Amino acid sequence: MMGKLTVGVWGGTGHTAREMCRLLLGHPEVGSILPASRQREPFELVHPNLAGSGLELLTPRELAERAGQLDAVFLCAPAGEAMRAAADFRQAGVRVIDLGADFRFRDPNDYQRVYGREHTAPQLLGEAVYGVTEFNRPRIAQTALIANPGCFAITAILALTPLLRAGRIAADRAICVHAVNGTTGAGSTPKSDLMHAEVSGSMLAYSLEGHRHGPEVEQFLGDVAGRPVTVDFNTAHGNFARGIHLQANVPLAGPATRDDLLGLYTGAYGAGSAGEYFVLVNTLPKTGERNAKQYEIYPRLRNVVGSNFCHLGLDCDTDRGIAKIVAVTDNLVKGAAGSAIQNMNLMFGFDETCGLRAYAL
Ligand SMILES: NC(=O)c1ccc[n+]([C@@H]2O[C@H](COP(=O)([O-])OP(=O)(O)OC[C@H]3O[C@@H](n4cnc5c(N)ncnc54)[C@H](OP(=O)(O)O)[C@@H]3O)[C@@H](O)[C@H]2O)c1
Repeated sequence: MMGKLTVGVWGGTGHTAREMCRLLLGHPEVGSILPASRQREPFELVHPNLAGSGLELLTPRELAERAGQLDAVFLCAPAGEAMRAAADFRQAGVRVIDLGADFRFRDPNDYQRVYGREHTAPQLLGEAVYGVTEFNRPRIAQTALIANPGCFAITAILALTPLLRAGRIAADRAICVHAVNGTTGAGSTPKSDLMHAEVSGSMLAYSLEGHRHGPEVEQFLGDVAGRPVTVDFNTAHGNFARGIHLQANVPLAGPATRDDLLGLYTGAYGAGSAGEYFVLVNTLPKTGERNAKQYEIYPRLRNVVGSNFCHLGLDCDTDRGIAKIVAVTDNLVKGAAGSAIQNMNLMFGFDETCGLRAYAL
């Protein structure tokens, strides 16, 4: 019988590393957590929400030297950094889950086009599996290198895949996605635009020339559809620390109603205990007259923050033939550390929900 896991967390002072450690501390199959950082700071001073954990930061070199003790390592570093570390850890036989973008594109040229730098570990790309757990279980269970999806990307993929799989999206028009992320989505490097005084009561649009998660979503959805898919991705930071509120406008290939689209989504994700544990579709019926503000039929961000759930809801503009999909996730959980643990659970043969069943705050 396998003992409890020893896992490393690389990039230990960042937002996603903090969330990794928080969730791993509650995981019944994880016995030892070794976070590593370039900073020489006491762990609990950097992450005071984890006071009492007893964790200590190693240096990256110390963690690399202890690779022989590791069952898995989570790379929580900016794009470009992870591919260096991943190559060393893979050589030492450690299973790698990269929360960043370095292994998300099959083709290193796509990586260079989107991230503006050369891929320095292209030999690992064939081994990397894109970690949308719900749609890639068999391959995730078999691999030793996971490319965890981007936080916007996984939210968009969960929102759009059922429609695309069913062939209901007009092939000749772009899918339009608007997504608002909390400020933790910007990482922990201080920026004056992200100070409370600037963000509070405001919004910050960014990367409207084409957010980097757009091509990642296009790669995944293109595989689902068997043809190129165009995603017009629009992003902003909202006046909150964590969470993603995403709305997608999807041009339909034919007539549809809200009820028949809801049937499609519950067919894809199941309902109740028979369905996907972490993807919940809001099926509350419309009872009011047209344009009544029936807020409860759409998902709300506050109901997923702190959890690994994705809540989905939808409507249909029947006059214009447009499906409106709403998806909410916590960018640090389902969008990062929670999905990473879901994938780790599959890789090590644990129940997929192990350590992740907590509901929203
Ligand atoms: N924030 C999110 O919502 C989110 C969601 C999904 C995926 N991601 C991805 O996860 C990765 C980490 O994101 P994050 O939000 O945790 O970022 P972050 O808060 O900025 O932390 C990244 C950490 O990486 C380490 N690092 C190593 N080399 C670095 C370098 N050359 N420059 C700067 N930092 C370096 C630093 O830790 P030390 O100084 O301790 O070594 C830093 O604290 C990124 O690739 C990001 O795209 C983020």
